[in-house]
Amino acid sequence: MKELTKLEILKWLREQRSSRLAELYERADAVRKQSVGDAVHLRGLIEISSHCVRQCMYCGLRQANRALQRYRMTREEILDCARQAERLGYGTVVMQAGEDDLLTAEWIAEIVRWIKRETTLAVTLSLGERRQDELKLWRSAGADRYLLRFETSDANLFRVIHPHRFADGPGRLTLLRQLKALGYEAGGGVMVGIPGQSFDSLAEDILTFRALDLDMIGIGPYIAHADTPLGSGALRPAILPSEQVPSNEEMVYKMIALTRIACPTANIPSTTALATINRVDGRKLGLKAGANVVMPNLSPTKYRRLYEIYPEKACIEESAADCSQCLRGQIHSLGRFAGEGQGGRGEFENLASILPDVSSRFVQLQA
Ligand code: 5AD
Ligand code: FES
Repeated sequence: MKELTKLEILKWLREQRSSRLAELYERADAVRKQSVGDAVHLRGLIEISSHCVRQCMYCGLRQANRALQRYRMTREEILDCARQAERLGYGTVVMQAGEDDLLTAEWIAEIVRWIKRETTLAVTLSLGERRQDELKLWRSAGADRYLLRFETSDANLFRVIHPHRFADGPGRLTLLRQLKALGYEAGGGVMVGIPGQSFDSLAEDILTFRALDLDMIGIGPYIAHADTPLGSGALRPAILPSEQVPSNEEMVYKMIALTRIACPTANIPSTTALATINRVDGRKLGLKAGANVVMPNLSPTKYRRLYEIYPEKACIEESAADCSQCLRGQIHSLGRFAGEGQGGRGEFENLASILPDVSSRFVQLQA
């Protein structure tokens, strides 16, 4: 299939007509079916620590947010979550946290080793910008994947909303390349509708996903958090109103769909942030626009509200078993099924060759 050009991506990002957008989602859904099939993979999310040394201007976990009560899960609590992931039939656990220096490399490595020894789960880490030797240790402990969204490919905007910790540290794009070189499946992604984010930069984000050949791509709406400089309005990156990307659902669906078309075999989640701005059917609509993964929360209920990246997060009260049941129901209602096994990107490689080719039907469909 012909590759999307930047101009085509831009036209789609600015498209308003619902009939045209329905065609885009249909095309993305067909590419999804052809490239990664009808399985929807469940990744259990364990939010292991809300401590963070960084000052990201958009994120509720930023160190300067004193309004937030912080927690760090114990090793036993984390292992319990992993056991529960297996009981619920998930193929992967994702251990996520702020940049917490007290999560020492060896402590994490030991937990990874335990999970890999005692379960059949894939282990994904999402622990921020960590040192190369730490990433290497975790990989050799058995970690399979690493998530590190680059948030925006606009280097100027990124600098403003994401103050660096070490002036000479590698950027996130460099880190993603290093992760791949270490043998991880690497996941990037962006928020949609960050103040100061232009349509042009969003198109560049998709080209960047493709250039990095990312294995996983997470895309969710930016949601203002009042206890952050960006969310309170104290920080306002300059931009023409006509260039500002809105942080609405439709923009997220467009981004998911275009990303699926640009990166057919990537694992793309329908995110919790999307479910937060449309509680009724955000997740389902994401799955219909090209996504093939969901990430149910496994964190103990007492911690969930404290992991407040953005406010009013979906699924704060529900138990892990409730979310598992709810998501399976949603998946079946779409005529799809919950994936068995780990659902890594490598497993999709042979799929395209055994499914009928749908790409020719869509060659005509252009922006
Ligand atoms: N709104 C939406 N998503 C956010 N994230 C952080 N802050 C917000 C926010 N205010 C996302 C970032 C980060 C991921 C863990 O959560 O993309 O990488
Ligand atoms: Fe949590 Fe539906 S996924 S309640």
